[in-house]
Amino acid sequence: MLDFEYPTAPAVLSVAFLAFLLILPVFKGLPKSVKIPRLNYITKNNDTTEIVSLMVYPIKSCRGIKLSKTTLRSQGLDLDRRWMLVDAATKQFLTIRQIPEMTLINTGLNDDGEFLLLSVSGVKDRVVKIPSHPTEEWLKENTTLAKVQVWDTLTDGHLYGDEVNEMFSEFLNRKVCLVYKGPTPRVMQGNGDPRILGRTQTVNFPDVHPVLIGSEASLAELNSRLAENGTKPITIERFRPNIIIRGNVPWSEDTWKLVRIGDSSSATPARPLVLDIICRCTRCQVPNVDPNTAQKNKTQPWDTLMSYRRIDEGMKYKPVFGMMGAPRNEGEIAVGMKFEFASLSEDAAETLLETFDSLLDAPRLQKPVVPLAFFI
Ligand SMILES: *[C@@H]1O[C@H](CO)[C@@H](O)[C@H](O)[C@H]1NC(C)=O
Ligand SMILES: *[C@@H]1O[C@H](CO)[C@@H](O)[C@H](O)[C@H]1NC(C)=O
Ligand SMILES: *[C@@H]1O[C@H](CO)[C@@H](O)[C@H](O)[C@H]1NC(C)=O
Ligand SMILES: *[C@@H]1O[C@H](CO)[C@@H](O)[C@H](O)[C@H]1NC(C)=O
Repeated sequence: MLDFEYPTAPAVLSVAFLAFLLILPVFKGLPKSVKIPRLNYITKNNDTTEIVSLMVYPIKSCRGIKLSKTTLRSQGLDLDRRWMLVDAATKQFLTIRQIPEMTLINTGLNDDGEFLLLSVSGVKDRVVKIPSHPTEEWLKENTTLAKVQVWDTLTDGHLYGDEVNEMFSEFLNRKVCLVYKGPTPRVMQGNGDPRILGRTQTVNFPDVHPVLIGSEASLAELNSRLAENGTKPITIERFRPNIIIRGNVPWSEDTWKLVRIGDSSSATPARPLVLDIICRCTRCQVPNVDPNTAQKNKTQPWDTLMSYRRIDEGMKYKPVFGMMGAPRNEGEIAVGMKFEFASLSEDAAETLLETFDSLLDAPRLQKPVVPLAFFI
C-alpha cells in the first residue's frame, strides 16, 4: 500500500462537483444528464519505485542532456523542447522522422548552466553558444518573432540569425533556422484539452504533452524479446523520455492515472510533485534510429513492439511505450526521488470515457488511459 493518502472517493467527488460547477459555462451543448462518476483508485503492492535518470532535449529531435536534478515546470522539465529547428522558408518544424541525422546534433550546458552549447558529432572545434534562459531584451535584439508550424498548428517562435543557423544548415544540407518558443501559449490538445484536463496547460515544442515517463523495467522486458530475435539491446534514449524510473513490474505503467514524486530521504520532505497521466505514448519509427549513428534500422525494435504493444484502443495500429504526464505543480526534481503511482479501476475508466466523449466536439484520436477531468 502507499504510505500517503490519495484523495478518497468522496473527497474526489466533492472537489469534482465544485470544479464542475465552476467551469460549467465553458461547455457548449453539454448533455443534460452528465454525472461525474465515482473514481476508484487501485493501488497495488508494487506501486513505489524511484527516479534513475532525468533527460532534457532542449532542441526537439536533437540529442539530449542527462541531469541529476532540475526543475519540473508546468510545461515540462526546464529547457526541455524549448527550441526546435524549422525549414527556413516554410517555417515548418523538422524532426528525426524526416531527418534522422538530427540526432547527431548535440546539446550541452556550460558549468553554471547559463549557456546552451550546441555542436555536431564529427564536426570538431565548432560550438554555438546561446543563453539557456534568454531575457526578453536578448531575444528582442538577437532574434525575430515569427509564426512557426508544429504538426498542423501555428504558434510563434523567436528565429535566430545566421551566426547560429549556419552550422545546422551546413550539416543538414538545407536552410534551417533555430527557433525559441515565443510568448503565445500553445495549449495542450487531445487528451490534454482543457475540457478534459480541467485546467488550461501549455507546452513548448513537444509533439503534444509536457512530460514523457519511461520505465527501465519495461525496457528490460522489451530487450529480452529483442534478444530472442537476435537484436542487440537498445537504450531508453531511443524513446526520448524525460523522467526515467527503475520500475518494478514491466508495463505496470499502462494503467497509471496519477503519479507522485517526493524526496523520501529528507527529514522535512517538500510538498510532493504530482502529475496527471494524460495518455499512453504511441510510437512512430523514431526508436528505430540509433542516436549514436543516426542509422535507422528498417525493422527493429518496431516489429517486436508491434507484435505485443498495440494496447491502446484509441490507436490500434501503433505500439505504446511510456506515459505522457502533465504536472500539477512545479518544483525541484532529482535522481533518487521516490516515485509512486496509482491507477483507476476499469469500471471507473470506462464510465469516465463515456462521460467525456460526450463533452468533446471532435472525436479523440487516442483513447485516454482514464480522462480525469475536474480533478484539480
Ligand atoms: C545580443 O547577443 C549578443 C551576442 O550574444 C550579446 O552580446 C548582446 O548582449 C545581446 N543583446 C542583448 C540586448 O542582450
Ligand atoms: C520477433 O519479432 C517478430 C516480428 O518481427 C515478432 O512477431 C515476434 O513476436 C518477436 N519475438 C519476440 C520474442 O518478441
Ligand atoms: C537491424 O536489426 C537487425 C536485428 O538486430 C540486424 O540484423 C540488422 O543488421 C540491423 N540493420 C541495421 C541497418 O542496423
Ligand atoms: C514486486 O516486485 C518485486 C521485484 O521488484 C517482485 O519480486 C515481486 O514479485 C513483485 N510483487 C508483486 C505482487 O507483483
